[in-house]
Amino acid sequence: MSDAPAEVLPTEEIDLAAANQIIDKFLTLPGNLMPVLQGIQDEYGYIPRPTIDLVAERLNVYPSQIYGVLTFYAQFHLKPRGKFIIRVCVGTACHVQGAERIVDTFFDKLHIGHAETSPDLRFTFEKVACLGACGMAPLAMVNDDTFGKMTVQKVEGIIADYSQRPMK
Ligand code: FES
Repeated sequence: MSDAPAEVLPTEEIDLAAANQIIDKFLTLPGNLMPVLQGIQDEYGYIPRPTIDLVAERLNVYPSQIYGVLTFYAQFHLKPRGKFIIRVCVGTACHVQGAERIVDTFFDKLHIGHAETSPDLRFTFEKVACLGACGMAPLAMVNDDTFGKMTVQKVEGIIADYSQRPMK
């Protein structure tokens, strides 16, 4: 499920030019709602509320239909996400190797919990199910970078590394 019910989404000012270009690209294609929403998320990193109204108007669908899609598919996010998405696997193999202690250490160091984003939009943290590399348990990922045989002691170094990386 996505991360916020529609009624609590903040209104926000964003540049809709990119969203309009994405809609233009798919406007005449059948079944264009999903590719439009995927394009918007790729562009903005999430689905900003003003883009929902724009898509509804330009594709002639009800906003409620769009919210239905956005809340059904876990791939869509209704709130801004961090530049660096930290995922710690809590699947069975990682769990028995101490994944929860690693999760707790990230919580302590980042001061955010599961599915939360740091105020500076640098980090989002997520506990996730099996990442498919159980032989490397316990496993963590930061975006596409994989950290196998994770330990509590490695957490601080990983955070320090990604804290120094550019945000652009
Ligand atoms: S259980 Fe963690 S990678 Fe499979």
